[in-house]
Amino acid sequence: MTGELTALREAAEAELRKAGTEEELQTVRTRYLGRKGLLTGLLRNIGNVNPAERPEFGKRCNEIKEDLSARIDRLLAGMALKKREEALLRERIDVTLPGRGIRRGTLHPVTQVREEICRIFAGLGFSVVEGPEVELDYYNFEALNIPKNHPARDMQDTFYIEENIVLRTHTSPVQVRIMEKTKPPVRILSPGRVYRRDSDISHTPMFHQIEGLLVDRGVTFGDLKGVLTMFLKQVFGEETALRFRPSFFPFTEPSAEVDIRCVMCGGRGCRVCGSSGWVEILGSGMVDPEVFKNVGYDPEEFTGFAFGLGLERIAMLKFGISDIRLFFENDMRFLEQF
Ligand code: DAH
Repeated sequence: MTGELTALREAAEAELRKAGTEEELQTVRTRYLGRKGLLTGLLRNIGNVNPAERPEFGKRCNEIKEDLSARIDRLLAGMALKKREEALLRERIDVTLPGRGIRRGTLHPVTQVREEICRIFAGLGFSVVEGPEVELDYYNFEALNIPKNHPARDMQDTFYIEENIVLRTHTSPVQVRIMEKTKPPVRILSPGRVYRRDSDISHTPMFHQIEGLLVDRGVTFGDLKGVLTMFLKQVFGEETALRFRPSFFPFTEPSAEVDIRCVMCGGRGCRVCGSSGWVEILGSGMVDPEVFKNVGYDPEEFTGFAFGLGLERIAMLKFGISDIRLFFENDMRFLEQF
């Protein structure tokens, strides 16, 4: 019987030496130590053993059983450890590597200029309002004193959606929409997109404007000059020279365009100012009585001034940008400079 035990033990040890995986180890355990295992079988049949040898036999059996079991546990633990070490090695993180930076965006130069202008006028009590980009002919033209076949319609190359519906060519229609539903005093600023059939180094089919309107009793051209002067000096600097030049717009009377001393050449004359030393920056004027009549305001009681300007144009002059198309190309190398 002891010979049989020794043989069994040696066989089990040989199998353990060959076992290379957890599964193979578990198979050995089942074969020898499982409920129907070889060693378990011997113990169960202890009745067949000579009674004198039984205690010794039982003791040996249990020793082998415990020894095998402990050996298998050790081998399993060793394998688990090795597996973990390999995983750690494979997944090693080099904490000394420099991090991958998150690219920080910047506000678009047109947005920056819009926010600056809105801030300046908010300080004067103007509120910011918006109007539709798809606009009725009535608001874009008619109510602004630009009747059908009026030559002023040729000044703006209009995108028509239907006969009486256009993509607004300027932000001026917001003036009419606001006055229609508000009683004076009115102080509004209206930024937004406008559309014209035009495309070259200084024109894009879509660009941005801001419209301003102030209506009250006793508003004069002096108020217009004072407000616009203060505004332009804040945007371009206190030393910036300005000039108010007589002009014409159907919705204002009198009308004036405002020029600033060319920021590129300081007035000496360059390509940007067409060697005149001045660049046009906005259109303005006293609201035409015809417009007031269209919205039900009494022109004898109220007066007001309005102005409109192009945001891209201001941004170009402020930041020294020479091609308007750069604003819409989304080139990070351009945008990151602001
Ligand atoms: N709407 C004009 C344009 O797009 C700009 C303008 C001129 C607006 C005079 C005004 C104004 O409010 O009074 O060219």
